[in-house]
Amino acid sequence: MSDTEVPTPLERDAMLAAARAAMDRAYAPYSHFHVGAAVLDEHGAIHAGCNVENAAYPQGVCAEAGALSAMVLAGGTRARAVLVMGHGDALVTPCGGCRQKIREFAAPEAPVLIAGDGQVRARFTLEQLLPHSFGPEHLGQP
Ligand code: THU
Repeated sequence: MSDTEVPTPLERDAMLAAARAAMDRAYAPYSHFHVGAAVLDEHGAIHAGCNVENAAYPQGVCAEAGALSAMVLAGGTRARAVLVMGHGDALVTPCGGCRQKIREFAAPEAPVLIAGDGQVRARFTLEQLLPHSFGPEHLGQP
């Protein structure tokens, strides 16, 4: 285990706890599929989000989007790691739209951790989930 592990075991546990608390707050009366997400920013702060569905189905918002919004509101500009938590046998990986949303704030090598009930089950890099992606650099952003 190296000193530069991202997230550190302590940060990972805090992300798990934040995602779990968020998942419990999910508003998912249509799918009944509760998702929690946690983002670790460049300051070491953790921001959580849950999915919020809507009677007009496409207006629903994913947990990852909520967590990224919370990060931006708090003054974070970089997502150093992302954790997504959901129930079930299948890994709850970010949807395509959320992969792109994460891409806005994360480096290709940023870890995306997939958790079940309180435990990390898989670890990907953003690049693995969204290869050859389009991002801020294409529009001249640093
Ligand atoms: N959902 C998320 O919040 N994040 C994902 O990455 C996958 C899907 C939500 C959206 C919807 O409220 C429910 O899970 C079922 O699709």
